[in-house]
Amino acid sequence: MSKKAVVTGAAGFIGSHLCERLLREGYRVTGIDCFTDYYDPARKREHIRFLLGDQRFNLVEENINTCDLRGLLDGAESVFHLAAQAGVRRSWGSEFTHYLDSNILATQRLLEAMRGREGIRLIYSSSSSVYGETRELPMREDHRLRPLSPYGATKLSGEHLCELYHANFGLSYAALRYFTVYGPRQRPDMAFSRFITAAFRGDTIEIYGDGKQTRDFTFVSDAVEANCLAARYAGSERIFNIGGGSRVSVLKVLDILRGQTGRELRIEFTERARGDVLDTWADTSRARTELGFSPSISLEEGMGREIDWYRERLGDSSGR
Ligand SMILES: NC(=O)c1ccc[n+]([C@@H]2O[C@H](COP(=O)([O-])OP(=O)(O)OC[C@H]3O[C@@H](n4cnc5c(N)ncnc54)[C@H](O)[C@@H]3O)[C@@H](O)[C@H]2O)c1
Repeated sequence: MSKKAVVTGAAGFIGSHLCERLLREGYRVTGIDCFTDYYDPARKREHIRFLLGDQRFNLVEENINTCDLRGLLDGAESVFHLAAQAGVRRSWGSEFTHYLDSNILATQRLLEAMRGREGIRLIYSSSSSVYGETRELPMREDHRLRPLSPYGATKLSGEHLCELYHANFGLSYAALRYFTVYGPRQRPDMAFSRFITAAFRGDTIEIYGDGKQTRDFTFVSDAVEANCLAARYAGSERIFNIGGGSRVSVLKVLDILRGQTGRELRIEFTERARGDVLDTWADTSRARTELGFSPSISLEEGMGREIDWYRERLGDSSGR
């Protein structure tokens, strides 16, 4: 019998790529997703449409907060927990309740269901947003954590919950702090998605702040690879930065976009968004040494792949 993995958030951007990879590796995969309407659920259905024909893939359309998790976890050796309410800018005000539900309560519920099971390991998708605004760059796992957004605070709470289930019940886990993941199927609210779509449609690209802010961009297949490495890892470290090693400014991203699409870009600079930090930059020494993580896709190559994906999606044959 092949190994079983559970993937929460299976129909999302990163989750759908991870399911694909696990099936390729011979796993049976139970994917849980409740198709929240943070962005168009039809888009999520598209992400996993081609997986549904695979008999080893079982899609469970349920909310983690209400479904019977125990049965779903039976026989699983790895649980990849990606389900979350993502997005920094939306996490203020009354929307916070979704962040509380999907990022904290759902994580606690999953941990309760895993507690006491032998031979099962959790890979928790965390975020660089746990660091907040800092001059200590690159960011290292043992640096001070001071999230600047409500979203970041909920992702950090998830990490704390994993750690305390580990300390009290010996739960085996790894938390992966992703730094801005991009690539085909990227969430439509994320910068590259917005920029590429606007470039093809001739719309104005809205930049929050002056564009000099920097991000360490991580191609989605590298984030997926990190999940697979973390599932196999048997060492004692539990928290890992996962960054692509391509730290550039937003202005530089726009230059690459201009070059790769051959389009003139209409750009409008607006107020910096609350909760958005100025810079992110991952020190990935620990992931490299302990997990053998080595990101393999450069920013230029990765952006090209995301642009191609959008070109096909938007029916654009011009440019480049
Ligand atoms: N994309 C990034 O750059 C990035 C960076 C850092 C961390 N992360 C983390 O990675 C994970 C995946 O992010 P993504 O960009 O793929 O987001 P996504 O929104 O595309 O995927 C998340 C999926 O989880 C599902 N979901 C949410 N709440 C649920 C619940 N209660 N029960 C069942 N399903 C639920 C949603 O329907 C969605 O399909 C998240 O945990 C996010 O916080 C992402």
